[in-house]
Amino acid sequence: MAKVFITGATGQVGSHLAEYLAGSLKGRKEVGGSGKPRYDDPVGIPGLPGLESEKDILCLVRPRRRVTRKDTVERISEKASVPVASVPVGSVPVGIPSGRGVALLEKLGVKIITGDLSDRDLLFEVLRKVDYVFHLAANVYVYSSFDDMYRANVEGTKNLLDAFVASKGRLFVHTSSIIVYDTSKKAFKLCGSRERAVKTFGNIGAEKIFDFREDCPWGPVERGKDIPYAVTKRLGERLVLKYAAQYAERYGAGYGGLGRQNAKQGKTGQKLFVITRLGPVVGSRDRQMIPALVESMRVPLPRLVGGGRTRISLTAPKDVARAQVFLALKLLKGEISSGEVFNIANEMVSFRELFSFVAEYYERKPPSFSIPRWIFRLVKPLLKFARRFVPHNMFIQTFFSPSALEYLEKSYSYNSDKLRSLGFRFAVPIRESVLEGLRELDPEKKMLLK
Ligand SMILES: NC(=O)c1ccc[n+]([C@@H]2O[C@H](COP(=O)([O-])OP(=O)(O)OC[C@H]3O[C@@H](n4cnc5c(N)ncnc54)[C@H](OP(=O)(O)O)[C@@H]3O)[C@@H](O)[C@H]2O)c1
Repeated sequence: MAKVFITGATGQVGSHLAEYLAGSLKGRKEVGGSGKPRYDDPVGIPGLPGLESEKDILCLVRPRRRVTRKDTVERISEKASVPVASVPVGSVPVGIPSGRGVALLEKLGVKIITGDLSDRDLLFEVLRKVDYVFHLAANVYVYSSFDDMYRANVEGTKNLLDAFVASKGRLFVHTSSIIVYDTSKKAFKLCGSRERAVKTFGNIGAEKIFDFREDCPWGPVERGKDIPYAVTKRLGERLVLKYAAQYAERYGAGYGGLGRQNAKQGKTGQKLFVITRLGPVVGSRDRQMIPALVESMRVPLPRLVGGGRTRISLTAPKDVARAQVFLALKLLKGEISSGEVFNIANEMVSFRELFSFVAEYYERKPPSFSIPRWIFRLVKPLLKFARRFVPHNMFIQTFFSPSALEYLEKSYSYNSDKLRSLGFRFAVPIRESVLEGLRELDPEKKMLLK
């Protein structure tokens, strides 16, 4: 019998992982006994070995704390003049767990562990009996200070790593982000290309495409040199790489070296790590992108830049869960080494397509009015500046954030060839994922009427 511990299980991605693992058990039960899991998966990824019951899936859920009126979703909604339903749950100040997330976990029947990443004693205690750790919790809240983000994304990760290495646990799956990559001009020389001549007015020349592979350089790791989220996610991943390297030195990087026997027995101290870098995730339980897309349809501003042709690799949350379980199994089988890094990102989708999915849902015409890129470049500094004055406007915070402004100008591919080369196949098309997210967010299609 084995146990898995998931952090961030009330979040968008973590809740899909919990659901996926619970689903794998259901599949097993349906075929009965020791029969092969008839897991609802198009490429037949089985669940984790040894999990027998939903109670073997332990999910960290933050305690509810008393909140002042100032903290509530209603306040953000009021300030931003948007309906409560459109306020992304992630924009609720840190410390308030998502009610929807907890309800889903309760429905799944998994074991809820109440606590926070800052609670070292709790993590040490819980991990004593855990075999696999999936670390998804992070402060992704755009309005957080550097210190708040550092506490969750770096110190929280360190607490969990320390508890993991002190436990009998074998496997640590870390959730990092493509935000670690350097998007500067210097990096473009190594990881960029110019492709596809674009002929529209304002787009003369070739499209700039960043093609981030796992070996592309990182952006800065110093406070103040980049947005807090990017810096703290880099520092968090760096810690995991450090722990992985220490164990690889001691035991070999997986089954291939000295570690083979140790890891198989799971008792002599070998620890296996895999690092996953997620591209933007869009779809069900989306706390940010889908609400922001709908919001943007409500404002009378041009939504497209340069014809909306720039593209970005997006992934459905269920595919992230599938990929993380797939990599965990590969590592346990010794088919990849401990400490390896994998991008997880699916289809490249243009902004024009993204808006057309939203328009399709609301049975409207997709936006067509676009501003040329050279005008956008002129107003970009103003947009960045304006963002400071409307900290609670979700649309402005999301679409005028430094990374989003970059996305409007260049195409970003988060190259997942390494993952695909192992046989992984993405299963959920982005259009379907966006429509699912919209159905959940606004089932009665009322948000665009207000
Ligand atoms: N979604 C994306 O587009 C994307 C892209 C790249 C990487 N990622 C990474 O994927 C992971 C999951 O992201 P997500 O989109 O699912 O985020 P999310 O929906 O905001 O969920 C974050 C989760 O972390 C929990 N959490 C935050 N601070 C915590 C703390 N101090 N202690 C314990 N739990 C804490 C939250 O709990 P509450 O429910 O209580 O707030 C929530 O369960 C993160 O590591 C993120 O950096 C996401």
